[in-house]
Amino acid sequence: MVMPEDTRVIDASSELYNAELVRRVDETDDLAYFWVRARGEPASFEPGQYLTIGVLADGRLVQRPYSVASSPRTSRDGYEFYVRLVPILRFTTLLWRLPIGHGMRVTGPKGRFLLESDDGRTHLFISTGTGIAPFISMTRTLLMDGTPRRTIVAHGVSYARELGYRRELERLQQDGYPLTYVPTVSRPSDPANAGWTGRTGRVESILDDLCDEHGLEPDRTVVYICGNPEMILKAEAHMQGRGFPEPHVKKELYWPKGKAMPSAVDVAAGRSAGGRAAQVAAER
Ligand SMILES: Cc1cc2nc3c(=O)[nH]c(=O)nc-3n(C[C@H](O)[C@H](O)[C@H](O)COP(=O)(O)OP(=O)(O)OC[C@H]3O[C@@H](n4cnc5c(N)ncnc54)[C@H](O)[C@@H]3O)c2cc1C
Ligand SMILES: NC(=O)c1ccc[n+]([C@@H]2O[C@H](COP(=O)([O-])OP(=O)(O)OC[C@H]3O[C@@H](n4cnc5c(N)ncnc54)[C@H](OP(=O)(O)O)[C@@H]3O)[C@@H](O)[C@H]2O)c1
Repeated sequence: MVMPEDTRVIDASSELYNAELVRRVDETDDLAYFWVRARGEPASFEPGQYLTIGVLADGRLVQRPYSVASSPRTSRDGYEFYVRLVPILRFTTLLWRLPIGHGMRVTGPKGRFLLESDDGRTHLFISTGTGIAPFISMTRTLLMDGTPRRTIVAHGVSYARELGYRRELERLQQDGYPLTYVPTVSRPSDPANAGWTGRTGRVESILDDLCDEHGLEPDRTVVYICGNPEMILKAEAHMQGRGFPEPHVKKELYWPKGKAMPSAVDVAAGRSAGGRAAQVAAER
């Protein structure tokens, strides 16, 4: 990956800063976990919602929305985010340069990608890459509240090293939480995946097997999808093709600003973006 040099000057202080970066853990060169703590009372949010975080660079606020991976029960320790570094000079190159303790702007929460209360159905969480974040918040919160739900977490990545939260999810499964963790690696022949013995293929390609293996039926299962926008549409079309009605398939729709979003029908028919009115990314 060629990383352009980001020479923008990040403003050290601003009255807009209402939070600060308190911790960072790198998973790979371009995937990291960040904890941002509110300077005052933390915002209350629901698992599955997102916050918008930003900093001032060259005097201008640069901010982007991120799903919160932590539980609202631990907000006083900071909100946790799982972020991919995108090699263009927008927000993530600024975030990667921020020292611990630096001020940040946090607004929100927003989003309607939420668990339903007292939902006894099996939860099938389908994600790619950093799209696993909202499911971590949901799972942690159900665990802390002592209200576990039968859950299957399918996570698709290109490289096994990108399986963020793998150890946590494997441990939960081993410890008897009613959770089945199903990672899948989509570039199995790449040398970086040497030694990977688990499932292979993009996440939407393993859904039939998952449904068959776990007896997932439309009337007893609720499906949540988050991650790559085209994966979301493909997975949605796939689940609808298996008889899952639209209200039982919840998705965190996300598409780059101004780009037309294909419908699930377009995707199923192999057509790409276009056709339907532009569905633009949320708050920028
Ligand atoms: C509701 C919501 C929640 C989000 N949650 C997360 C999250 O938890 N973690 C996370 O990493 N991102 C998340 N994103 C994406 C995030 O807001 C930024 O778009 C992303 O971090 C890139 O920011 P940027 O400023 O570098 O580039 P942007 O100016 O935002 O985007 C520039 C281009 O990069 C593309 N892009 C965005 N993300 C990626 C990616 N991962 N790989 C390759 N290209 C990409 C965009 O499609 C766009 O074409 C979320 C977006 C939305 C709308
Ligand atoms: N709340 C939200 O809306 C939210 C939260 C978190 C993240 N996101 C978004 O989710 C996405 C995750 O990005 P990421 O960089 O972490 O991972 P990513 O690269 O999008 O995901 C990796 C996996 O997705 C597959 N993939 C890539 N393009 C695809 C396509 N067109 N159709 C189906 N599968 C595809 C890859 O397969 P190959 O190996 O074959 O390429 C790989 O298995 C980003 O767009 C991010 O902004 C949204």
